[in-house]
Formats: sequence, structure tokens, C-alpha cells
Amino acid sequence: MYELNLTEFDQETFLREYWQQKPVVIRQGFKNFVAPIDANEIAGLAGMEEVESRLVYRDGDDWQAEFGPFDSFERLGDKGWSLIVQALDNWSEDAAKMIEPFRFIPNWRLDDLMVSFATPEGGVGPHIDLYDVFICQGTGKRNWRVGDKGEHVEFAAHDALLHCEQFEAIIDTELLPGDILYIPPGFPHDGVTIEASLSFSVGFRTNSTSNLISGLADHLIDKELGGELIEDPQRLVSSNSGAINSSDFALIKNQLQKLLDNDDIIRQFAGSFLSQAKHELDLIPAEEQLSNAQISEILQTNNLMRLGGLRAFYFTDSIDSGVFYLNGDEQQVDEEIVEAVKLLCDNVTVTPEMISEFVHNEEFIDLVGELLDAGYWYFSE
Ligand code: SIN
Ligand code: CO
Repeated sequence: MYELNLTEFDQETFLREYWQQKPVVIRQGFKNFVAPIDANEIAGLAGMEEVESRLVYRDGDDWQAEFGPFDSFERLGDKGWSLIVQALDNWSEDAAKMIEPFRFIPNWRLDDLMVSFATPEGGVGPHIDLYDVFICQGTGKRNWRVGDKGEHVEFAAHDALLHCEQFEAIIDTELLPGDILYIPPGFPHDGVTIEASLSFSVGFRTNSTSNLISGLADHLIDKELGGELIEDPQRLVSSNSGAINSSDFALIKNQLQKLLDNDDIIRQFAGSFLSQAKHELDLIPAEEQLSNAQISEILQTNNLMRLGGLRAFYFTDSIDSGVFYLNGDEQQVDEEIVEAVKLLCDNVTVTPEMISEFVHNEEFIDLVGELLDAGYWYFSE
């Protein structure tokens, strides 16, 4: 299990002083760090169709970016390239454990765990991200420069590579295994590898207003909601037929406002929308259907594991009615198993001790049966 070693500040101080505000280097944030996966395994994942991978390298002065799957890297030599695999948490249970120490930030904010294998001089070039990222040096040595937030000109160094112009560094440092660099959105940065290295990035991303509104519109259409028309039975005579006067503008705004004030609809939308998987899931539905008696027995000895990358949420304001959100859908369970559902949403690993009071509850066993059949949860030794 990975544990964050915060010597300069604690989690509260980190959130108060750095999160979304300024970058910081956490030296030996992971003490005695052992990388959960090696370069060969990463190359193997990059060879799979379902896994998102990217190669970035320089060709003279030009930047090149290619998308996987890749079957060989020999043509690239031993310098100046990096291989990036997205959503590593969906494909490696060991690597997914690296996210656990960051659970003091809720899961709805999480994007994914990314890994990059980079040869000396390799990197993706100076750029700005839209997400908060904890870059954890796994093996090797890499130099990182981070600039201040501000006006930075961005340009496409390649169709698939948005760069920014060189910047003055406010952080310029070498990361060694176990060191962590936190960078909030908007701060330009550039990591250049000194010794072949693995960097793991735990990324957190939010949605823009336009993302949310477009998702909300899809939800309303899908669920046939929000069909109410603007009504204006108290209309007064208008002397300027081309005008939309201030009371009519208020009427239009109020129509939208009424929808946004409907907490039931907004929760239903946000829960479904935020629980959609961000990357392909490695779904392996259970081979054999277990009987309820078997499930009950296994729950008493084995851990129940949530599939990497699967998103399951509840709202503290509505969970008591048994509603939760799983992989893009609203789910309803009996109120008597609400505490068990909270355990499933809050923990990747649910141990027999945690779940002991529910192992004979038929409602819960039925739910676990469905989750196992869908491949969303699985038993581990
Ligand atoms: C990388 O690890 O090469 C890129 C990580 C980043 O800059 O966000
Ligand atoms: Co970046």
C-alpha cells in the first residue's frame, strides 16, 4: 500500500495553500517508493487496442505524436522519446493502488492515473494542462520546470500536441524516485528526462460550464424532462415589437433558473454524468453465476474489489432514500442497505470486516450478485 509522507505540511494545509493555487514539490512524498509496474509491462499495455497510448518524440526540430497500439519501439533508439499510457488504473490493480493516498480528494474529481516511460531527453514539451496533477517520479531522474500562471501563447507543435512558448521557471528541479510534483491547472510545465524514467501522474479534472450544460441537455432529452414551455399570461401591451424587454428577459432567465433550482433533476443529472467512465473499462463479467449462498460465504472470507476506473457515487443529501449512481446510471436500492452501498462507493477494497453486518442480507447479496455479473466488482483473495 502506498502512503503519502507529508513532512512539510498536512493534507488540510496542502488543500488550503496549494490545491488549485500553486505548484509544489513534495520531496519523498512516497518513501522507499517501489514502482508498481515496469517499462516492459507498460510497453505490453501500449500494444493493446483497448488501451489509450501515445508516443511523443522529436524528429529533428519537429515534434511527432503517434497513437497506439504499438508493437515495437526499436526504431526510436534509446534517446529522446516517451511513451504515455492513459488510465493505467483501469488495467493494473497494483498501479491503481497509487491513487489511494490521494483519496482525501473525492473520486468525482479524479480523472485517471497516467504513466509515462521516457528515455533520456524525452518529454512531451512545454505545455499547460486543464487538470490538477500529482506527478510521481517512479524510477530514474527527470528535470521539471514549472512557470507561473498567466498569459502564455499556446500553439500546435503537432496536430496532437498543444505546446506553449518557453516560460520563466518558478520551479526548476530534478525529481528522484518517490518525489512528487503537484501542478494546478494553468501552470506551464516541461519535464525533460535525465535518466530513463517512469513518471506516474494522478490527474484530477473538473468540467467546464459548457460541458455541464451540454451534458444536462443530453440528460433532459434522454429522460424527456424539461419540456415545460415559458408561460406569459400576464403580458402587457408592447410598443416596440423588436424589443425583448427586461421583464421578458427575466422570464427567459427564470425558466432556466427553475430547472437549475430543481435539486432532484440536477442531482440525477450530475450523478449519472459524473459517474460515466472516463476511459474504457476492463470489464470481465463473472464466468459463472454464483448462488446467493455462495456469495454470502465468499463475502465472509474475501475482499470485494471495485474495478479500476469504475465510478460509483452517492449524494450525502439523497443516499438515505437508497439512490446512488454507477457507471452513468441511477440505481435504487432498499434503504436498509444504504450503509453497504456507501462502503462500495467510498472504498475500492471492501473487506469482510467492513461488510460483516450485511453478509446475510438478501437485498445486499442480490446487489452484489448483479455487480459481479456485470463485471463491476470482483472477489479477490
Ligand atoms: C509526462 O509525464 O511526460 C507528461 C506529464 C505532464 O506533463 O502532465
Ligand atoms: Co502536463
